[in-house]
Amino acid sequence: MPIDFNKIPSPCYVIDEPLLRKNLELIKKVKEAAEVDILVSFKAFSNWGVFPIFKEYGFSASASSLNEARLAFEELGVKAHTYSPAYEKKTIADILKYSSHISFNSINQLQKYFKITNQNGVSIGLRVNPEFSDSPYDIYNPCKPGSRFGITADQLGDTLPQVVEGLHFHTLFEADSFALEKVLTIFIDKFGKLLPRLKWVNMGGGHLITKRGYDIDHLVKLLIDFKNNYGVEVILEPGSAFAYQTGYLVSTILDIVENNGIKTAILDVSFTCHMPDCLEMPYKPVILGATDEKTGKPTYRMGGISCLAGDYIGNWSFDKELKPGDKIIFDDMIHYTTVKTTMFNGVNHPSLGIWNENSGFRLIKEFTYQDYKNRLS
Ligand SMILES: Cc1ncc(COP(=O)(O)O)c(C=O)c1O
Repeated sequence: MPIDFNKIPSPCYVIDEPLLRKNLELIKKVKEAAEVDILVSFKAFSNWGVFPIFKEYGFSASASSLNEARLAFEELGVKAHTYSPAYEKKTIADILKYSSHISFNSINQLQKYFKITNQNGVSIGLRVNPEFSDSPYDIYNPCKPGSRFGITADQLGDTLPQVVEGLHFHTLFEADSFALEKVLTIFIDKFGKLLPRLKWVNMGGGHLITKRGYDIDHLVKLLIDFKNNYGVEVILEPGSAFAYQTGYLVSTILDIVENNGIKTAILDVSFTCHMPDCLEMPYKPVILGATDEKTGKPTYRMGGISCLAGDYIGNWSFDKELKPGDKIIFDDMIHYTTVKTTMFNGVNHPSLGIWNENSGFRLIKEFTYQDYKNRLS
C-alpha cells in the first residue's frame, strides 16, 4: 500500500518507517561486520518520538551540546560521545553526567576540564584536524585553512597529554569509503605515531553508508585493517546516513502568481524555515512527480510562505498545470531539516508523523501558537 499523501495533514514531515528500518539494518550490519561502534549523530536527526525504533537496533549517540547529550540519556537510554568546539563552565558538569566520552577541541579546553572529566570517569579525546577534506561545499568543510575545528599535527607535536585516551576527526561530507581511505592515509601519516597508546579513534560523520552504490565491503575492510594495525577501538558517528532518504515534507499549494513570465507556486512551507540546507548549501530538492525544467511542460518556481525575498527555488516541470490545493511532496526531507527549522515570520512548524504499511499514518506532533510564543519571551 503506497502512502496516500492526500490523507496526511499539510504541512507535515513524514518518516517512512520501512525506509528508516532499511537504513538501520544496513548500518547495524556494517557495525557487526567491522566490529566498530556506529553512533547516531543527533545534529542530523533527533526526532525522539521514533527512538523506540532505533533502540531495537542498539545504536548509541553522539552529541554536540548539553541538550543533545541529555536527550540521548533520557530518550535513547545511552551516555553520549560528546564533542563541542568549546565547553562552558556552567554546563560542563551536566555534559559529563550524560557522556561516556568527551572530545576537546583545543589543549586549552583540555587543561581547563580534564580534572573534572577524570573525576566523572568520562573517557577523554582530542579533536584533531588532518587539514584535508574533499567536501565540495565550503560550508561543510571543517578542514579549510583557518578552520576552528581541531588541533593540527604541527600544533600537537610528538606526544599526547597522558590523560588523552582517544582522537577524534571529522572531515567528510556525504562521502564514500574511498574518501575515508584518503583521509585515513593522511591521518595515519600525521597522527599515526600517537596511536599505539590510545584506546579509541572516532572517525566522525559524513559516511553516507546508506547511499545506493556505497561500497560497504570496502568500508568494512578499511575499518578492520585500521583496527588490526593500530589496536584501537574504532567509532563512526554519521548522522545523515541514518535518516537519508527516509521520508518527505508534504506541502500544499496555496496560490499561484506570475511575474515576468515566471510562475511561482506559493506553498504552506518555506525553504528558509523548513528546508534550510536547500538555501545554505545550496541544492535543489527532488519533488515527487516533477522533473528539472523541461521546455514545453508546465514549469514553476516553488515559493516559500515566509517574506524573505530569497525564499524560493526554481524550476520544476510537471505533466499538467498546477493549481491551489495540489500537494507538493519534497523527497528526502528528514535529515538536517527538523533539527534546523525555525519559526521565522511566525510561520508555523510542519507537523511530524510516521507511516508504515500496516498502521498507515500516525501523527507524532503538531505545533501551535504556544510553541512560537514560548521561544520569544
Ligand atoms: C563532529 C561531527 N560529527 C558528526 C557529524 C555528522 O555528519 P553527517 O550527518 O554528515 O554524517 C557532523 C556534521 O557536521 C560533525 O560535525
